Amino acid sequence: MKIIRPNEIRIEVTPPPCKSISHRLLFFSLLEKGEYEIKNLLRAKDVERTLNFIKSLGVLVSSTEQGLILRNNRLKEPGKVINCGNSGTTARIGMGICASLPFNFFLDGDSSLKARPMGRVIEPLTEMGAVIYATHDNTKLPAFIRGRKLKGIKYKIPVPSAQVKSSLILASFLSQVESEIEEIFKTRDHTERILKYVGADIVNKNNKVIVKPSKINNFSLKVPGDFSSAAFWVTLGILHPDSKVVIKDVNLNETRTFYLSILKKMGANIETYLKLKEPEPEGDIYVRSSDLKAIRIGFSECSKMIDELPLLALVCSFAKGESVIEGAKELRVKESDRLKYTARILRSFGAKIEEYNDGWIIEGVEELRGAKVSTYKDHRMALLSICTGLLAQGETEIKGWKWIEISYPNLFEEVKRLYE
Ligand code: S3P
Repeated sequence: MKIIRPNEIRIEVTPPPCKSISHRLLFFSLLEKGEYEIKNLLRAKDVERTLNFIKSLGVLVSSTEQGLILRNNRLKEPGKVINCGNSGTTARIGMGICASLPFNFFLDGDSSLKARPMGRVIEPLTEMGAVIYATHDNTKLPAFIRGRKLKGIKYKIPVPSAQVKSSLILASFLSQVESEIEEIFKTRDHTERILKYVGADIVNKNNKVIVKPSKINNFSLKVPGDFSSAAFWVTLGILHPDSKVVIKDVNLNETRTFYLSILKKMGANIETYLKLKEPEPEGDIYVRSSDLKAIRIGFSECSKMIDELPLLALVCSFAKGESVIEGAKELRVKESDRLKYTARILRSFGAKIEEYNDGWIIEGVEELRGAKVSTYKDHRMALLSICTGLLAQGETEIKGWKWIEISYPNLFEEVKRLYE
């Protein structure tokens, strides 16, 4: 795949449906017998893994014009290995569900997922009474889970992780026990927010979630646009010297949009218009070319925009002065080592970026030049490479661009519109 920089950018886009919310709404169908409708579900590879997960547990899925109807009449043992592919969300949230249902499960994943830490979810689930046998001293997939009713837990999650939090919430809900889950920093709160909206007894206050035995109602919900995919257009819009970008119907949940606050602090021309508040805030984002200055951020800020950090490194590559990003060690255990590969990709384009143990130091430059880059089998590295290629002088060739299909399957169709 080859790309060049468009002369100007005038575009209105609707990003793909939110990946995190799509996973969650599918998982929610396992919580209670009933009928659930999901409109605007993300049809991308990661979410297909969760769809396959719920189907193998017996949820009946049928299509409508706007989305899917899920019927949970009676759950069953899958009777075969569930492959979570590349999807950490399927595996980690899925583990909490498997641990609390009265069946046996085998979970596996692709080579990237098998290398990622699962101990962070296995440990608290085991404390709740779960029976899980995983490889590498109970820290990695593949894993065998003998599900059963669990005990409640009072637990402070040592790493900021919405996947771990959601896993414990769903495990508590399915076991109908009370749990108190605390975080060091508040991470995306889609699980607790939407479950509460559909009737669950959940208190979501500051960094604490209290789950109590309760029921959920049948629901019909529409998934808003994905903020992390919208971040691609925000980044392109502020960095291209002649641009006006409108991004429609994006999820504007405050636990997702911290990237915008940091960009505004750097001088970015960004405005947001909220159109809907519940169950998830949703609205439009307006972006124009901006002159940016360097920034310094640490651990708490990094954990509030973990998926946007590679794009932030690109922004810093064009910002005036030296930017310091610290406390981002978590990036090393994502779908790839994103600290390493972000630096490698941006350096190929001529950026001045140094990789450290837990972050980067980036000196802004006047321009980047086209390069040949790889995506390291990581959709966020694909997003970064495509965005950088659209900003660099000359031609860019991207090997492995197809990994974008994990979260943004129609990105290239949208990018083509930039040249019309
Ligand atoms: C996600 C949580 C984050 C994020 C991932 C999706 C989720 O992971 O990086 O892309 O949907 O809960 P962690 O929970 O590992 O921080």
